[in-house]
Amino acid sequence: MAKATGKKAAAKQAAPKKAAAKKAAAPTAKKAAAPIVKKAAAPKKAAVLKKVAVPKKAAAKKASASSPADQKNLLQQLFVDGLKDIYWAEKHLTKALPKLMRAATSDQLKQAFEEHKVVTEQQIGRVEQVFQLIGVKAVAKKCEAMEGLTKEADSIVSETQKGTMSRDAGLILAAQKVEHYEIASYGGLAQLASTLGLEEAKNLLGQTLQEEKDTDERLTQIAVSSINVEAEKEKGPVKEEENKEDNMQENKGEKASENQESDPV
Ligand SMILES: [Fe+2]
Ligand SMILES: [Fe+2]
Repeated sequence: MAKATGKKAAAKQAAPKKAAAKKAAAPTAKKAAAPIVKKAAAPKKAAVLKKVAVPKKAAAKKASASSPADQKNLLQQLFVDGLKDIYWAEKHLTKALPKLMRAATSDQLKQAFEEHKVVTEQQIGRVEQVFQLIGVKAVAKKCEAMEGLTKEADSIVSETQKGTMSRDAGLILAAQKVEHYEIASYGGLAQLASTLGLEEAKNLLGQTLQEEKDTDERLTQIAVSSINVEAEKEKGPVKEEENKEDNMQENKGEKASENQESDPV
């Protein structure tokens, strides 16, 4: 009995195996396989888009920032942006320089501004040549810095007396700030052109850079040779603002001496 029982038990044990085999076989049948493929395929596609496509974009961004070829493109973009900035600045200066010329007292300074306007127009042509060399349309982009510098020059005109050398000294100060902005811009752009292998552009920008340096030097010479010396002799009414500043300084001095007196030795 024990053997028979054992055989039956074995048969029973075998039965689930068959069932298991059937169950196992079921998914391989064509009809049963179809929904599984559909179910499995849908999430797979989503996963591919979500998990793979997004990182791919990020990877592409990383690659664009790290591959040497694309780094050059970024630098080219920076170069073009710089050109647009100085293009606007130079055009703006052709309108600002005649105002400075009219405001100036000495003929020497008037002449310097007049001549620099002519030079500035040539410089605009040179920037356009650089745009042409790199195959980019010449477009001006507002230069906030140059707008600010010319506004400062306007303030000097309104805050100084007409016909004085002090006004000229102030105009030279304002004009030299403009020249230094240009020197920084053209110096930087010439360096970028050199790095990008744009030799002709570098030479054109370098030519303008030298002109700006010469103008700055000329303004210094005008200031130190006569204008500053003459301006130093000029007297005029003290402005209210200066009175306020003097009072503030006096008060500070008083407070400082009070503190010194009260400080324990
Ligand atoms: Fe210029
Ligand atoms: Fe200039």
